Amino acid sequence: MPDNQKAPANSAGEEEPTDVAERDSKRLVVVSNRVANLNAKAQTGGLAVALGDALSASQGLWFGWSGETSVDAKETMPKIETKGDLTVATIDLTPEEAEGYYLGYANRCLWPSLHYRLDLALCNEEHANIYFEVNARFADNLMPLLEPGDMIWVHDYHLIPLAEELKRRGCTSRIGFFLHTPFPSPEIFAAVPHQKRLGDALMRFDVVGFQTQSDRENFARYVCGFMNGEELTGDLLTAQGQTTNAAVFPIGIDVQGFANLAAQGDGQPSLLPVAPDGDMKTIIGVDRLDYTKGLPERLRAFEALLEQYPQHRRHVRFVQIAPPTRETLPVYQDIRREVERLVGQINGRFGDLNWQPVIYLHRPFPQDVLARLCRESAVGMITPLRDGMNLVAKEYIAAQRPEDPGVLVLSRFAGAAEQLREALLINPHDVNEMASTLDRALTMPRQERWARYNRLRQRVETYDVTNWRDSFMQTFASSDADPVNVFANNKLGAA
Ligand code: ADP
Ligand code: F6P
Repeated sequence: MPDNQKAPANSAGEEEPTDVAERDSKRLVVVSNRVANLNAKAQTGGLAVALGDALSASQGLWFGWSGETSVDAKETMPKIETKGDLTVATIDLTPEEAEGYYLGYANRCLWPSLHYRLDLALCNEEHANIYFEVNARFADNLMPLLEPGDMIWVHDYHLIPLAEELKRRGCTSRIGFFLHTPFPSPEIFAAVPHQKRLGDALMRFDVVGFQTQSDRENFARYVCGFMNGEELTGDLLTAQGQTTNAAVFPIGIDVQGFANLAAQGDGQPSLLPVAPDGDMKTIIGVDRLDYTKGLPERLRAFEALLEQYPQHRRHVRFVQIAPPTRETLPVYQDIRREVERLVGQINGRFGDLNWQPVIYLHRPFPQDVLARLCRESAVGMITPLRDGMNLVAKEYIAAQRPEDPGVLVLSRFAGAAEQLREALLINPHDVNEMASTLDRALTMPRQERWARYNRLRQRVETYDVTNWRDSFMQTFASSDADPVNVFANNKLGAA
């Protein structure tokens, strides 16, 4: 290559490859707050499950919090483990860091705000400071592990300031971001304390990925309306001298893997008690016990079904699997109490010596058990009040028997609803609508179930976890938000 066409040298003095094929072969470095335990059978939380699937066959590095706290965490080096070709590096946090960054700003302030629950958002200045400091510490610990030309893919709201921190330390690698939660309407995001700092920090990523078109539109409206930014051609957004490629990458699952696990139970005895006359249908829900998941509303809908459609009594049960999450926060203790009170109320009111209407299990289960339970269930009831995507909706579809599938009842406010349009879409705040939809699902003729399932299965297969990872990486590798191209592409400039 002639000298005047040489690619710019990076901080290590090596040349950066410029063509897409070369970039595709670069090492992938994933950074997330939570790192999946790749040896564990049960993994709760969409991020850990999806990234575990996306990275299981990859030669890359996964960096994050170990989930442990220790008083000397700031003086300790990252712990490095290898699993096949994948290297996993984790750091501990001090108890104060875990409290301020994870439980505090991330989960008391950002999580509710991103899910449209400003009423639950508690934002304390000390927690916010610790959040930004922990991001700086992530950058300090990650920098020595990076190699020239790595593609760094940062995940979720815990780590919004990370690109800025890495760049401040001289990192020249491309850095992408994926938000697993919704991005709320701009008026809500603008109400979050430190929103300006977060908005600026998001613009420092080369690519910002969202689950749905509506999340991406909300972000674009925020950038244009609250940051004096502009939308350019393609997916580019620019504000205050920074340009990023903001695009939609709906997260998916390992469809065949989950379907295989589900089919393992065929020919085996049912996991659930069998009714003497065999006439018992199961409705299933699987969610972390989070207030965003709409569990009290769902239980009330099941109660309304039994009340208003008495023909289903003794012929239907509702299995709700709800593993613990963020248990030390009072709002999670409140939701648990509420759910457990409703379970007791429904079982006490309608149950019989030989029929328990609600089976509630407050713990994680191995994926094969979840898959088999989904296959045994006539209805998947996934009714979050808000959700980034909701992988369980896709898992329920993957688990079905193609010749006799169940019916998915899905909240309009789950990101998955943008793709899974043949599900029975409901408003999770409307208990009576949910009850009548449950009745419709339980009595739906096989032909209609089959027609809906076929379309849903196709879409879940097309947008699987590999497609999610590859489409992000493709955009990431080809995105070039340098100012020269930006102005060449600028809609306003071209007009
Ligand atoms: P979130 O990321 O908010 O937890 P998702 O529905 O996107 O919601 O992802 C949840 C993931 O966690 C799914 O893959 C689901 O199978 C898994 N999961 C949920 N509950 C359990 C459980 N009790 N045991 C094991 N895995 C679970
Ligand atoms: O998918 C959204 C998400 O917040 C992930 O980032 C997270 O891993 C998951 O939900 C579970 O939450 P937590 O890691 O706090 O248990």
